[in-house]
This record gives sequence, C-alpha cells and structure tokens, in this order.
Amino acid sequence: MTELNRRKMLIVSGGATLLGAMGMAQPAWAWSPSGSVAGTGAGTDPKWVWDAEADPVLAAVFDRGQVAAVNQALRTWTRNDQPTPSGLPPDLRDFVEHARQLPSWADQSKLDAAADFMKVSGRFVNLLNGLGGGMLSTAIPNEARAVYYSKGGADMKDRVAKTAKLGYDVGSLNAYRPDGQMIVSAVKTRLVHAAVRHLLPQSPHWQEGIPISQNDMLVTWHTLPTYTMRKLTDWRVRVSFAHSAAYLHSWQVTGHMLGIRDEYLPSTWDAAYAQSKQVLDPAMGPTREGVELTDVLLDMLAEQTSPGRVDRPMVNALARYIIGDRFSGWNGIPREPIWDPLVGTAFPALVAFHEKLIPLPLVPQAAWVLDEAIRRYIRLWLSEGRPVNIEIPDMNRPS
Ligand code: HEM
Repeated sequence: MTELNRRKMLIVSGGATLLGAMGMAQPAWAWSPSGSVAGTGAGTDPKWVWDAEADPVLAAVFDRGQVAAVNQALRTWTRNDQPTPSGLPPDLRDFVEHARQLPSWADQSKLDAAADFMKVSGRFVNLLNGLGGGMLSTAIPNEARAVYYSKGGADMKDRVAKTAKLGYDVGSLNAYRPDGQMIVSAVKTRLVHAAVRHLLPQSPHWQEGIPISQNDMLVTWHTLPTYTMRKLTDWRVRVSFAHSAAYLHSWQVTGHMLGIRDEYLPSTWDAAYAQSKQVLDPAMGPTREGVELTDVLLDMLAEQTSPGRVDRPMVNALARYIIGDRFSGWNGIPREPIWDPLVGTAFPALVAFHEKLIPLPLVPQAAWVLDEAIRRYIRLWLSEGRPVNIEIPDMNRPS
C-alpha cells in the first residue's frame, strides 16, 4: 500500500470514528435496495463506498507517473465504437474494457425513446440540467468545495465546457449507439472522479476525507433527472408515460456508466423521489466556495446572452426562478426587483405557449427576451458539439 493510500484509509476510518466519538451518529441508511435497479444489495451506507474498481487503478497510474501519457492516449478515443486506445497501461486498459460495457439491463429501444423525448422537450430539459443542475450543485457543500479546490476550479470556463460535453452527449440522439460518444464521456468522467479521489485529500484546503462517495454521486444524480422531472411536472410540461420511463432509463444507464452501483440506482420515479429526499435534501447548504462558483457561472451565462453582461439581472432572476429562493439565497444570487416578478409571469407563459396551451397574443414581450436568453444559454451549455476533451487532472487547484 502506498503512503497516500494508507493516509486515505486513516482518513476514512478516522472520519467514521470521529463521528461516533462525537455521538453524531448519522441517520442510518434506510433506503432499501429492493427499490433499486439491481433489486437487491447489501444495504451498505453509500457514504462509505467509493469506486472500488476505478480508484486503485488511477492511484497506480499516479504512482507510476503516467497521467500525461494516459491523457495523450485517451485523447484519440472519442466514439463509442472505437477500440480502447492502445498505449494505456495494462491495468487501466483492462478497467476501460470492462467499464465501457453497457449493463445487461440497458434497453436500446428505451434509450431511443429518451432521445425522442429530447427532441420534444429538449429546451426545458437542457435548461434544467444545465442551469438548474449547475446552480444546485454549487449549493451542495461537498461538491462546491470539491470543484473549487480541484484543478478545474481555477478555470471554470474550461470546466463548464467539459461538464457540458457530458450534458450534450447524454442528450444526443445517438448517445449510446456505436456512432455516439456517451460511453466514452462517462468512462472518462469515471476516471476523472477516481483521480479527484486520489488528489483532493492531498490539498491543504480539503478536510472532508475521500471525496465523491457513492452518496455524493447519488446527490448529484438527483439534481439532474429527479429535479428535472419534478420541475417539468411543476411547470406543467406534458411528458408522456413512455418518455418519462425512457428518460429515467437513460439516466439509470448513465449512472451505471459513471460508476454508481446498481443497488443504489432507483428503479422507478417514486423510488427516485424517496431517495432524493433522503440524500439530496440534507446534502444542501451554503458555502463561500459555492457563492463564488455561482457568481462565475452566472457571469458566463450573462456574457453569452449579452456581451458586457448587461443582462446579469435577468440571468439572476431566471436562475432564482429555476432553483427557488432558498437555494438562491445560499448561492448568493441577488434579488432583482424588476426581473424577478417579470420572469415569474413570463416564464409560465412561455411554457404554456410551447405546450400549445395559449395563443401567441397572450405571451408577454418579456417571455421572448427570456426565450432568446434560454436559446443562447443552451448553445453555451451544449458547446454546440465543439470537440472538448475530458482529461484526467494531474493536480489540485494551483492557487
Ligand atoms: C469532473 C460529471 C458527480 C466533482 C467531472 C466531469 C464531468 C462530471 C463530465 C469532467 C469535466 C471536467 O474534467 O471538468 C459529473 C456527473 C456526476 C458528477 C454527471 C453525477 C451524476 C460529482 C460529484 C462530485 C464531483 C458528486 C463531488 C462531490 C467533480 C470534480 C471534477 C469532476 C472535482 C474534476 C474537475 C477537475 O478536473 O478539476 N464531473 N460529476 N462530480 N467532478 Fe463530477
């Protein structure tokens, strides 16, 4: 065992012992694996489970000083149907060969239906996954700090482009088909997360033990499909039963490909809502890092929708509308006396118009300003399919 791995073990056992010693017993993990995709499981608390397959392999890549060479080899791998690149060390190659296999329960007809759902409702789904998911993740202390103190935290533009790559790939029509890119993006992200688990405990700013546990992964997962489906329902966007089931399925497959164990992935929306209550709600809170990251993200969005950032108040109001007052407060999003009420009336009208529930003359002018901002925002979020490489970080945030 390397020195670092020994240190990590101490952090984990130390963390558990410390909580016990302080009498701060965490609520027991009560979510039953019978509600999972696997349908069965040991019921182990996912706070103490990471990625047993990827983590030791990445730690060994670091120990052997091979990160740069591995990144170079992986750069040529972009499509699902390409062979695993030659030039990877044998242990990593074996891991990738295994990790790139879709689970036996993946159903291509449902994945195709999920792609069809994106054709119909992509505008609002992308807005929720991109802006909504992004703004929620900055209100999750574990994630905000992990992102802030990892290498990408110093260059949020680059990081957003890379995260958006996954958003683009998951929503594309051929995501998991041979000519798609989602398998590659998910496996590379799994490697990045394993690298972060190795690197972040070495940062003087990081006190939280080993990051990105299975629990953390579930927390973030719920900011994406679960939150999105809940909001679509709130906003009265019509989603057929087949589309709803297909969308859940595409995210179950994505969760699996990102390294979430099948015994934790919810099998139905009801199971997802129940699990979200248990894992996402208590994981949220304010941090200085989250406020800073939010400000950078909203500035980027305002820059995209209006050079010179004159539309920042509108962007603030749109973000507040999507994630609500509580999380906006935690993220330090200012209240906007003019735009908050405008968005409050214009957004539902925009949805109703797109759902063909109201005619054009009933749509207020402000709705079209929002519509255009959303269109530009989605263009930014999707990077318009620009080639973007997800790369294994070789260090933490430098400053
Ligand atoms: C990197 C997606 C969960 C922290 C990435 C990347 C993607 C991604 C696409 C690669 C982009 C890049 O290199 O910057 C996801 C998805 C998740 C998830 C879809 C769950 C469904 C988490 C969680 C945490 C986290 C729970 C922390 C608690 C990070 C960090 C990086 C990263 C620190 C590396 C940034 C760097 O290179 O410095 N993630 N992630 N992620 N993710 Fe995640």
